[in-house]
This record gives sequence, structure tokens and C-alpha cells, in this order.
Amino acid sequence: MKITVVGAGAVGATCADNIARKELASELVLLDIKEGFAEGKAQDMMQTAALLGFDTRISGSTNDYTKTANSDVVVITSGLPRKPGMTREELIGTNAGIVKGVCENILKHSPNAIIIVISNPMDTMTYLALQSTGLPKNRIIGMGGTLDSARFKYQLSTTLDCSPADLNALVVGGHGDTTMIPLIKHATWNSIPVTKFLSDEQQEKIIADTMVGGATLTKLLGTSAWYAPGAAGAALVESIVRDEKKLFTCCVSLNGEYGQSDICLGVPVVIGKNGWEKIVDMELSADEQAAFNKSADAVRSMNDVLKTL
Ligand code: LAC
Repeated sequence: MKITVVGAGAVGATCADNIARKELASELVLLDIKEGFAEGKAQDMMQTAALLGFDTRISGSTNDYTKTANSDVVVITSGLPRKPGMTREELIGTNAGIVKGVCENILKHSPNAIIIVISNPMDTMTYLALQSTGLPKNRIIGMGGTLDSARFKYQLSTTLDCSPADLNALVVGGHGDTTMIPLIKHATWNSIPVTKFLSDEQQEKIIADTMVGGATLTKLLGTSAWYAPGAAGAALVESIVRDEKKLFTCCVSLNGEYGQSDICLGVPVVIGKNGWEKIVDMELSADEQAAFNKSADAVRSMNDVLKTL
């Protein structure tokens, strides 16, 4: 198994570190445009192999895509991160060109790769990757909902004082501060509805804190977060390479599912060796469906910006 992570910044490097520690690949390539940067990160990570005991060969490359040839899975993290006070959407002008170029270069050398998109604005970058490559839709996966669902579980776990691992909770819709939809009415603590234990005020606060989860960290860190985004990318890689068929919320191409078409948006999907293998239909309430449609409208207007670039 060969995996490439494009972008050796904080998210890309953390994702690569998780992939190596989990031994998801025999070969792992980290690529960046900044001279020597990916090589340095790869070497540093490789020097943990003797300490951590993993057997993945990690190498770095400065923009030489021949080194990525025949990758099975490619994670794209390239582009600018958010600065405090910035929305993910403000990154579209710079990141669209970068992501389009990365996709072209990757497919020249790895025509069969499954692509995971992390770059922001993630829903639009996933749509762009799908449109610009013409790949079968199942091979393009946007990571956002996987991260947002993990953040939702974190918020629930701190209020409920329980293990995040005991929670089932999904965030659907877009990966934006105002477009994501934490589905609290469907969330359970080992199959017991969490709403049984939470007041209306607590529920509202958990939802609000989840939605600005990324922005809160950007304010604290001065740039966007990396541990959870990197781990979310690696969790998707793991489900693909081990064909786990785990259910995650991912941003995928919708053709009528959840009442939407010609858009990539976060819905529950099964992730396995073929990429996203099926969309799981859960019954949304009228309010949830209305929120989903509103989220789709916002993402669609962001997608329209692509035409003006
Ligand atoms: C975040 C970025 C990765 O939410 O979108 O932290």
C-alpha cells in the first residue's frame, strides 16, 4: 500500500504521522512546494520509527510528483490555513488554484488513487476536485464531517462527563461555521439518546460550540488546528486501506440523496476499499432537512465563485 500526503504543514504532517504509527502503508510520501520542507518532516518522522516501532518508509519530496507514483490513497491538505477571524470560505481564491493543480499532478502519476480532500473551503474544494478530475465520484472524499463529528463528540463528552468513544454523534451538511449541522436529536451515549441528559440550554451550547470548534482553535493557536484534522484524515485512510467499511460523515457528491444534486456535502457514508461505497439514508426531521437545504444553498453559492476565478 502506498499513500501520499500533499502538503507537509501541520495538518499534512500530523496526518502522515498518524498513518505511519498505524502502519497503514508500506510506503508514505509527503510532498510540499517549500524546498526541503517535506524531506525534513519525513526524516524527522522516520527517526521516530525506531522509538515507536512502526515499519512504514516515509520519504519527502519538494514538488516532484514522480515520487508519488502509484499511490493508492492521496490526502490533499495543500493551501493556506485560516488566520484568526477568517472564515474557511475566504480561502477560496488562493486554494482553488492550488487544489486543482495538485489533483492534475497526482492523477498523472496515480490514475487509480482515491483522493481525500482536507483543504478549505473543504466542500467547495471537494466539488472542484470532482469537477476538474472527472474521476468516478466514489473516489473523491471530503474529510470535514469526520472532523466535525469528532468535535461534536468532544463537546458532548465534556458536558456529559463521559468517554467520547462511547458516543455516537454525527455532524452533516457543510464544513463551515454556519453550514454544519450537529444532529443532537440523533446522538446517543451507547444507544441512550443524549438529549435525555441535557437541558435545552446545554444542547444549544453544545451545538454552537461544535459549529465554531475550528474557529475557537484558530483564535487560540493563531492558525487552524491540526491534531484532530490530521487524525480525521488518517481515520478515513485506515477505513479505506483496511476495507473497514466504517460509517463516517464525509463530503461526497449528491445526486438526489438528501434532496440535493450537483453538490458535494456532508452525509453519512460507508468508507471502504472503493472509497465512499454508499450513502446511508437517515431520516432527517423537517427542521433538520430545512437546515440541510440551507447549508446546501450556502455551499452552492461558494461553488459558484469557482466560475469567477
Ligand atoms: C478545521 C479546519 C481543518 O476545522 O477546517 O480545523
